[in-house]
Amino acid sequence: MCGIVGMISQSSVAPKLLEGLKRLEYRGYDSAGIATLTDGRIERRRAEGKLKQLQDLVEHSPIVGFLGIGHTRWATHGAPTQENAHPHASDQVALVHNGIIENYAELKEMLINKGHQFQSQTDTEVVVHLLTHYLDEGKTPLVAVRKALKELKGAFAFAILFRDHTDLMIVARRGSPLVIGYGEQEMTIGSDALALAPWTQHLCYLEEGDYALITKEGAQIYDYADTLVERPIHKTYLSENTVTKGAYRHFMLKEIFEQPVAINNTLNLLTDVSTSTVQIPPLSFDWKDVSRLTLVACGTAFLSGLTAKYWFEKYAQLPVDVEIASEFRYRDPTLTPGGVAIFISQSGETIDTLCALQLACEKNHHTLAIVNTPESSIARQSKNVITTQAWPEIGVASTKAFTCQLAVLASLAIAAGRRRGVLSKDQERKLVQSLHQTPDQINKILQKDDKIHELGHHIRNANSSLYLGRGTSYPIALEGALKLKELSYIHAEGYPAGEMKHGPIALIDEKVPVIILAPQDQWFEKTISNMQEVLARGASVICFTDESSEKHIQGLGGKIKTFSLPTADPFITPLLYTIPLQLLAYHTALLRGTDVDQPRNLAKSVTVE
Ligand code: AGP
Repeated sequence: MCGIVGMISQSSVAPKLLEGLKRLEYRGYDSAGIATLTDGRIERRRAEGKLKQLQDLVEHSPIVGFLGIGHTRWATHGAPTQENAHPHASDQVALVHNGIIENYAELKEMLINKGHQFQSQTDTEVVVHLLTHYLDEGKTPLVAVRKALKELKGAFAFAILFRDHTDLMIVARRGSPLVIGYGEQEMTIGSDALALAPWTQHLCYLEEGDYALITKEGAQIYDYADTLVERPIHKTYLSENTVTKGAYRHFMLKEIFEQPVAINNTLNLLTDVSTSTVQIPPLSFDWKDVSRLTLVACGTAFLSGLTAKYWFEKYAQLPVDVEIASEFRYRDPTLTPGGVAIFISQSGETIDTLCALQLACEKNHHTLAIVNTPESSIARQSKNVITTQAWPEIGVASTKAFTCQLAVLASLAIAAGRRRGVLSKDQERKLVQSLHQTPDQINKILQKDDKIHELGHHIRNANSSLYLGRGTSYPIALEGALKLKELSYIHAEGYPAGEMKHGPIALIDEKVPVIILAPQDQWFEKTISNMQEVLARGASVICFTDESSEKHIQGLGGKIKTFSLPTADPFITPLLYTIPLQLLAYHTALLRGTDVDQPRNLAKSVTVE
């Protein structure tokens, strides 16, 4: 996905556009650009690479103007080069875009036949020429935009400025988020609220199909049927310092260390610590009547669902399917009547998860969204919404959002079990008390961060690694492998420890570090047996286990390093054992010199297919 920002102000907008792009860089960072209107012409500055390149260019070659737009790109059509960087422009129009124009090829051919000359390989540029074509026919900017929008297929969020209109920006959204910020004689727009935090906390989220004319005085919003509409203006909690690293070297490290507070805040939303009971906000369905549960997500969010499957089946006796959203939406799934589908998404904008949600709605399924972004598309299109209290997560690798998703799902599993009459009040009390111990336990783990740094030295030069776990440690092994892959670029594979003998054991040799999760739970003994099988074949093992088991494991002999965690109720070990795996990936990435907050090829939320 990409980040877009725009502004009409009483002062020069270029520095503010760059500040806004800095806050959006986590959405995509392979090229960037800004455009302003100055002295009756459109001025652009665009640069390949990280935002720093653009900042240096603007410093070297300043750009003025009180009206402007900006863009930070995650390339879909056309390599990340300067000529493919947004804004795209003709002499009359400049435009930035987040999304994909699916019918761009036919539009491009039509426009070339009309004499338009293209400068880039992007889909976006067709919109510039389409608008220019209508302006050349004498249409007003509003009419030109209306006509163009009706010809486009695909997803977009646009911000557009016009050479002959010094107090007008037109924005439009279909399938990609767009928010309008109301300031004092200053109007801003952005892909999300984070971008606008320094200038306003009064935000209006455009609805699907909306477009708006923005001037210094305010916004005129139209819906997809060209009807003038009012959209509510919210006050956001985000402020300028919400998105700073503070004393931390990276956003990811800050967000790892924020987990005790984030989990505590999330649990306070869903449980009552004084009575050790769950207190879930009212839902549109009754767990008693739910026939089946489908958990749908992508990436790390999918792994929180895979973990929750164990909890819902054990504590609520509910059959659970866990689905990768991009597979689910194209499989024409059978959704049994009376089922509930839960969609898990940090950003709330992941296109595959959003489309899977829309499919479940079409099949009249009850839907519940677990998001970290309350105003997101997935939140707005779900019947029920629970918002994690992780607060904005800027690091591209998801950390605090994941453990907060686990906290929500664990609370829901308890609530479901109680409502279905299969979990006693005493069991509820014990489980909720265990959940409330999580923040303190995580703090103890975080205090051993330097030990994890040492372990990073043992895997930093590996080309491949295996992560093994059983039961609820299996999805956490998958998550640990995903973190290592996406941060350090070392190939890592998570596997059920019991499955390792059915093939992957052939991979074992001294060059393939094996990371094993062995909490003191019902699968402990079996996991130790699997560990001995790999040790016997010369593997070097890093074992994460309880304080109470560490000595026993160290006594097994062979090349083994251990890291001990507080002994805890197996119910919460997925949250605890995630922490050292996050830190291991972080430190290994640092040792390998990769970009921890913005790993190559990734973006924070994948809003294109
Ligand atoms: C997590 O570390 C990854 N960056 C990625 O897998 C992410 O979890 C996935 O893209 C889903 O994003 P979402 O939670 O915003 O839907």
